[in-house]
Amino acid sequence: MNVLVCGGAGYIGAHMCEQLAERGFSVVVFDNLAGGHREAVRWGPLIVGDLRDSRAIDAAFDAHHFDAVVHFAGKIVVSESTRDPAVYYEHNVNGTVNLLQAMVRHHSPPLVFSSTAAVYGDPQYTPIDEAHPCLPVNPYGWSKYIVEQMLTDFRRAYGLRSASLRYFNAAGASSSGLIGERHDPETHLIPNVLRACIEAHPVEVFGDDYPTLDGTCVRDYVHVSDLCRAHLTAIEYLRAGGDTETMNLGSGKGFSVLEVIAATERVCGKPIERRVAPRRAGDAPILVASSQKARKILGWNPVESDLESIIGSAWRWARQRGNVTGR
Ligand SMILES: NC(=O)c1ccc[n+]([C@@H]2O[C@H](COP(=O)([O-])OP(=O)(O)OC[C@H]3O[C@@H](n4cnc5c(N)ncnc54)[C@H](O)[C@@H]3O)[C@@H](O)[C@H]2O)c1
Repeated sequence: MNVLVCGGAGYIGAHMCEQLAERGFSVVVFDNLAGGHREAVRWGPLIVGDLRDSRAIDAAFDAHHFDAVVHFAGKIVVSESTRDPAVYYEHNVNGTVNLLQAMVRHHSPPLVFSSTAAVYGDPQYTPIDEAHPCLPVNPYGWSKYIVEQMLTDFRRAYGLRSASLRYFNAAGASSSGLIGERHDPETHLIPNVLRACIEAHPVEVFGDDYPTLDGTCVRDYVHVSDLCRAHLTAIEYLRAGGDTETMNLGSGKGFSVLEVIAATERVCGKPIERRVAPRRAGDAPILVASSQKARKILGWNPVESDLESIIGSAWRWARQRGNVTGR
């Protein structure tokens, strides 16, 4: 089976390629390398191309037969999306229209799409299930929600079946030690706490007066390897004739920023300084997933998503690299 991985040079996409290859699947990566890394593409050929270029993605389908597509490609920084929404709609929406049109022109293979908890906006209850209203509070979240709607429409009109997987906070690194999280800029908590630990500077805590047990934001962290396993089962589900679905992927447990810092101190064996900074616009106090639907439909069960395993794997990757910046 041959799988196209759009965004396969990025953090989650590279982990997906590794797992696909381990299962004996052939992998082709399509990535513009704007946020990804050429050296993370180790399990199949790389087509350097941009989804905004419809001819480039069409040419990839002309050159290969794909039995399934996994789509991670896009812009991912929430604050940047608020400052420059046009870029987010161009990459995440227009780019995906081009991909979907190429797929429809080439026998409509099943698609697994990277969506996000940001489609929900401010949580009205917790844990958040898929019945929660979707009212994104930033252009990044809207760009993903628009694609989910497009996927419903493409199913109805063209028969293209898909699974939109709404990730909460992806974290951790492959146990192979070959790949890990590398964003530039890095906006995610765990790599930033690890960098603070390695470079011996304070980590910023954005707000300590939220209505949570210790005043800091609570998030649901899911191991990147568990996320990728859900994609594998989603491909199987779609190839067995399963219909278009939208599912949350999270561990179902929430940890505050201070709890993550404390767990990192235990893993790294040294104290980590922290500095309280003002709240960031749009940060909800608590975001925790109900993943019952993915458990039921996909039989998915996260097995590496306890906090110590996540941080331990990210720590091994960060130490090996010497730093955790995207540079
Ligand atoms: N990391 C998380 O915690 C998280 C949470 C929720 C959702 N997601 C979603 O998961 C996906 C992957 O996230 P990630 O953390 O691996 O991000 P990433 O930035 O590491 O990977 C995205 C990849 O897409 C590529 N790309 C971007 N725009 C492109 C375009 N127009 N054409 C071709 N390639 C393009 C980048 O070069 C990069 O390799 C994203 O769609 C993101 O929105 C991530």
